[in-house]
Order: sequence, then C-alpha cells, then structure tokens
Amino acid sequence: MSKKLVPSMRFLVFAVAALLVVMSTIDAADEDKKYSDAYDDLDVDVILKDDAERDRYYACFMDTGPCHTAAAHFFKNKAPEAIITACKYCTKKQLEMFEKIVSWYVDNKSQDWNILIEKTIQDAKKKGLKI
Ligand SMILES: *[C@@H]1O[C@H](CO)[C@@H](O)[C@H](O)[C@H]1NC(C)=O
Repeated sequence: MSKKLVPSMRFLVFAVAALLVVMSTIDAADEDKKYSDAYDDLDVDVILKDDAERDRYYACFMDTGPCHTAAAHFFKNKAPEAIITACKYCTKKQLEMFEKIVSWYVDNKSQDWNILIEKTIQDAKKKGLKI
C-alpha cells in the first residue's frame, strides 16, 4: 500500500464509522416509535370469526360506534399511521395481526375494507401525517 493512500483510507474508515453511527441512531429512533406490545396477545382469529365482535371493532374504527375495549381504542388510535406506513412501527405480532385482518377482509368483505382504508387515510390527513 502506498503511503499516499493512508490518509484516504483513514478517511474511509472514519466515513464508514460515522455512517454506522447515523444508521444506528435512525434505528434507535424507529425503535422508540414502536407501538406498545400491551395488546399483542389479542386473538384476531377469534375476533374475525365472531361476526358481532368483529362488527364492534369495525364500528369503533369507523366512528360509528364506541370503542368497546381498551385494545379497540389502542389500535384505532394507531391505525392511521400504521396504514400509511404499512405497519412500519408495528411489533412482529402486530404485523401478523395486520396481515390476517387484511387478508380476511379482502377475501370476505372487500367493500367494507376499502371504506375503512379510505376513512383511515382521511384520519391520517387530519392528523397531519404525510401520505
Ligand atoms: C373468510 O371468512 C371465512 C368465514 O369466517 C373464513 O373461514 C376464512 O378464513 C376467511 N378468509 C380469510 C382469508 O381469512
């Protein structure tokens, strides 16, 4: 290795180290934004199969009925951001729930799902979230 290369090599090492620090800071920031896992044990399979219970959740999300459980309240609050970010700040479990809910609705009640998505995107806009 020529002597001339040494400073640039040093710079490269510094640049890579700096980049790693920046990246880990971004990761940490995202980690901070992760939603609470307090309701991760909610059994969405049971809810999706139970017409009355599923309709109660739907009404909560649509503002056509009260949010009857703490979990309903929690997820309704997170929904606008979760939907426009494709569940970016979801826990692993929440992402699984989200995928189950999407596939159930797309398969079984796609019209209702489109209405809910449209409404939730409007909510996101009202909250000033970037679409
Ligand atoms: C659609 O609904 C039926 C009856 O509740 C259910 O068995 C099926 O799994 C649902 N589809 C999806 C993709 O979840």
